Amino acid sequence: MHERLSEVLSPYKGRRDALIPILQNVQAEIGYLPDEAMLEIAKTTGLPESRVYAVASFYAQFRFKPRGRHTIMVCRGTACHVRGAEKILEETERALGIVEGETTEDKKYTLETVACIGCCALAPCIMIDEDVEAKLTPKMVSEILDGRAE
Ligand code: FES
Repeated sequence: MHERLSEVLSPYKGRRDALIPILQNVQAEIGYLPDEAMLEIAKTTGLPESRVYAVASFYAQFRFKPRGRHTIMVCRGTACHVRGAEKILEETERALGIVEGETTEDKKYTLETVACIGCCALAPCIMIDEDVEAKLTPKMVSEILDGRAE
């Protein structure tokens, strides 16, 4: 990782003004912002580590943990909530063995919730990467996850 990091950071020596693009570029290269990267960013820019963490933590786009190869987003919007989104989330968490915000040990899935997927008439819904799974029951969630390959 160190080599990739050095390569991304090399144009930014002393560039305290470029923190956001630096964070974006590092995340694009590595997939997230590990502690090692945060320390290197602080050293490269000359900013205090606390400042680098404060800025990165402020923006939802930055991640401090690696993500899974697939993202599951369970909708918690009103239409989905009324039609049992809580049970869908519970079943998804049970089936994956993780809770919202976590990534499975094998790095296959990251589980998140979202305010609305935009398919309210088909509630309750989840999204797996780009695919919407609609009118779900908890049983269907397990079947969908069991039936998915890598
Ligand atoms: S509320 Fe779930 S899709 Fe809109």
